Amino acid sequence: MGALTDPFGRRIEYLRISVVDRCNLGCFYCQPGGQCKHRRAAKPLTRSQLLQVAGTAAELGIRKIRLTGGEPLVRKDIVEIVRGLAGLPGIEDLSLTTNGTHLAALAQPLKEAGLRRVNISLDSLDADNFARITAGGDLQATLDGISAALQAGLQPLKINMVVMKGINDREIPAFAELTRTEEIHVRFIEYMPMRGQDETWRKYYLPSGEIMRRLAAGGELVPAPEEDMNGPAVNYRYRGATGILGLITPVSRHFCAACNRLRLTNDGKLRPCLFADKEVDLLPALLAGKDLRPLFAAAVIQKPSHDVSPAARGASCGPRGMAEIGG
Ligand code: 5AD
Repeated sequence: MGALTDPFGRRIEYLRISVVDRCNLGCFYCQPGGQCKHRRAAKPLTRSQLLQVAGTAAELGIRKIRLTGGEPLVRKDIVEIVRGLAGLPGIEDLSLTTNGTHLAALAQPLKEAGLRRVNISLDSLDADNFARITAGGDLQATLDGISAALQAGLQPLKINMVVMKGINDREIPAFAELTRTEEIHVRFIEYMPMRGQDETWRKYYLPSGEIMRRLAAGGELVPAPEEDMNGPAVNYRYRGATGILGLITPVSRHFCAACNRLRLTNDGKLRPCLFADKEVDLLPALLAGKDLRPLFAAAVIQKPSHDVSPAARGASCGPRGMAEIGG
């Protein structure tokens, strides 16, 4: 069993798999903006191709897999995909990022198939604001999904809120309150500038320092211990509270030095970095039945020490937006 270590000594143990690029919601911050709105007609990998890639990843020392999209639950065979991945030796943590709208029906089957936990993207607790941000989404569907996930024991349940100035920042206290009595993590994520979004980003970006100030106004914050294989969140809890408050700061304090990730796009490209547009195409090897291991090695070697977001380097319209990479 090999291990994947990049040229900067980072051990790669985490694979994020985008299973589909479609989503049933249309959050503006997740779409490429302006002139970058072109879409490519990607054909997603089949389930057996996905499992083959994941199997190789597991052989190479990947211990953690997260399924993303688009919205992963719009893929019809998602439960079977989870079942296949859960059966891979070496995978200790199998999770999924979802908008939660299909979870009321799927939480239980996913849990039974071997999913451990979910992260739910939720940017507003106000039905009108939710609909505005998501281009017509139904808040109640996501709230029902959260209840179903808790009931099914998909835990720890994490809620991801992308904080945007003037859009949902006034709701920071309401999100923080969820942690007083519920055993959930609420993670406040800095809005990252994606393809062609410079102007929107400049308008709505709120730095984590300001998010912290707003959280501190709600009570005494106590640092909360890191869990195993934790991601980039810095965690706190209100004294006496049940749940956790996390800050994720890709913009104000990037966490590239601790990056242990590779990404697989739904059309079969390994991406060494969310922001750098390097990709290694696995499809030809998959179709030819060839060994995928050298391609994993090629992707890992190309991991940059760090990279900056498109807006920060004067955004070009690269090939993919967030919805196609999987966040
Ligand atoms: N900035 C920060 N987070 C983003 N996500 C998508 N686009 C952005 C962005 N521009 C997050 C979503 C979800 C995950 C899939 O990625 O909120 O939690």
